[in-house]
Amino acid sequence: MTLIEKLAQGQLICAHRGHRACFPENSLSAFADCAGRCDLVEFDVHFSADGVPVVFHDETPGRTTNILEIPGMAGRAGEPLSEFSLLELQQLDNSSWFYREDPFGQLRAGKTRLPADTRQSICTLDEVLGLLSGFGLGINIEVKSLHRDTDHSIATLVELIGAAGLHEDCVVSAFDHTILRSLKSADPAIAVAPLVDDWIPRNTTDYLRELGASGLHVEDRQATPELLRELTDAGYYLAVYTVNDAERKRELLDWGVGAVITDFL
Ligand code: G3P
Ligand code: MG
Repeated sequence: MTLIEKLAQGQLICAHRGHRACFPENSLSAFADCAGRCDLVEFDVHFSADGVPVVFHDETPGRTTNILEIPGMAGRAGEPLSEFSLLELQQLDNSSWFYREDPFGQLRAGKTRLPADTRQSICTLDEVLGLLSGFGLGINIEVKSLHRDTDHSIATLVELIGAAGLHEDCVVSAFDHTILRSLKSADPAIAVAPLVDDWIPRNTTDYLRELGASGLHVEDRQATPELLRELTDAGYYLAVYTVNDAERKRELLDWGVGAVITDFL
């Protein structure tokens, strides 16, 4: 069964940025912990200055790396990721901050442990797809931004998804729906789903059809049984992010949403 068929059946659990409550977001350890604990994994992608897709959430490295400790790079904490070469990004540790700050309190609660070495490097999309494809999990690549050579960025995404053999197991989402249009026209076999947060397209199902999308990813407060029915009646799935409250998660799954995207597995 393809990922889109599974999403149409519904009630999938999707790990947000890997198992983000217990491990540093978008790190290899956060992805490794997903094996056997969820149905699919969501993560974020930006492009380096030299056009390589890397897995990282924020537009800048300040919050989730040790850039302030790196001689010669500290002054660049507020620069966009797209200004850094892959080599520079790979010098950054994207994990120690998590164990220092314990942002979800899971270290204090004994739900996760301090590893012997807290450091990990920012990883490329290629590395993450290589790891996840071995787990048999569905994959949700959220593309945050492209390199200024957008055609090359789209071709790179198509190539990496194809090389990893993930056409049937992957869906690409983005808040910038033009990225999805470009991807779909470069490779119609790649499944895409627009992300929204503070608006829902008028004539939603017409919009999805025109985009060639398989579903819609909405913020929790936008999810209603009426929206779910409208989408499923027309053959589209609904995914809801970021749902951490256990009761709300249960409610959405009972409605039959395609997937809930959550920090807690
Ligand atoms: O893809 C769902 C969710 O990840 C979108 O928001 O900011 O967490 O990437 P964000
Ligand atoms: Mg995301």
